[in-house]
Amino acid sequence: MRILITGANGMLGEKCSLKMSEKHEVFASDVQEDLQFKCPIPYTKIDLTEPKQIKAVVEKFEPEAIINCAAYTDVDGSEDNQELARAINVQGVQNLIDVAKPYNAHIVHISTDYVFDGSSGPYEEDDEINPINFYGKTKFESEKVLVESNLPVTIIRTNVLFGNSQSKAANFVNWVVENLRKGETIKVVNDQFGNPTWVNGLAEVAQKVIEQKLEGIFHYGGEDYLSRFEFALEIADVFSLDNKLIEKVTTRALSQKAERPYKAGLISDKLKKSLDIKLYSIKDALKHMKAEIEETEEQKDAESQ
Ligand SMILES: NC(=O)c1ccc[n+]([C@@H]2O[C@H](COP(=O)([O-])OP(=O)(O)OC[C@H]3O[C@@H](n4cnc5c(N)ncnc54)[C@H](OP(=O)(O)O)[C@@H]3O)[C@@H](O)[C@H]2O)c1
Repeated sequence: MRILITGANGMLGEKCSLKMSEKHEVFASDVQEDLQFKCPIPYTKIDLTEPKQIKAVVEKFEPEAIINCAAYTDVDGSEDNQELARAINVQGVQNLIDVAKPYNAHIVHISTDYVFDGSSGPYEEDDEINPINFYGKTKFESEKVLVESNLPVTIIRTNVLFGNSQSKAANFVNWVVENLRKGETIKVVNDQFGNPTWVNGLAEVAQKVIEQKLEGIFHYGGEDYLSRFEFALEIADVFSLDNKLIEKVTTRALSQKAERPYKAGLISDKLKKSLDIKLYSIKDALKHMKAEIEETEEQKDAESQ
């Protein structure tokens, strides 16, 4: 199957590129000039706000499926840069739809539990939508344009993605590990709840969705529902780091620019019933991630010698 991946240099885009190219013909794209990890697949720059760039690749490659991993993902930045966030997260998706229409390509789009207000999570697909920050609003608007597109569409909402990546170092797990390794104290909120999702699991799900042409709105999260503080403790445990360096703090005390949903997170039962998939426990996912990091570091060491 021919699969176009947007946002390929992002955390999820990299994993989808690596996984799907083992079995399918994959074309990768992102806003950067080059692919930023090792994978023998074709790559062209596509900025989703530039319809001509999308058109050039889609006309040449004629994808049967497009997995949209591209987004403006800076939650606090979205409050200050609302025009840009909307241009990428909403107009960018509309641009993708407009170009994909003549090819009837199946669009798989990634959304978020931030479309909910966090008053009563974890959430099912039909629960009331009520985003409380601008990022969440743009992601919900992106869902709406897709639902109205008359194309074969799948929206997978996920939350708190983490995993090893060659190109993107920044996710919560890396941040915790790096600071604790340096012996630095970190403040982590104990009042935001979710079910952190291993990015490899989400890439597996996206591939199955494409192969089985599953359409609709689905939730996919990890097996364990816990606070960010508890997640940090799990990370310290698996990476054998000092958990006394992790300080509890409330969301209010952090004074972040964007409001955060407190009881967020997702119930994945609908997807579990539709596909034969596994939800990963935090412990298992972190152990796999640690092994992958060690492997990447060994490869880098070998290459530098
Ligand atoms: N990470 C999470 O915890 C989380 C939770 C729920 C849902 N999601 C959703 O999951 C998806 C993947 O997230 P992720 O964590 O893999 O994100 P990510 O690492 O930030 O990757 C997003 C990629 O899109 C690129 N991009 C930005 N603007 C673009 C544009 N105009 N055209 C094309 N590409 C552009 C980014 O480039 P730059 O880095 O240069 O901007 C980046 O490479 C997103 O839709 C996100 O909303 C993520």
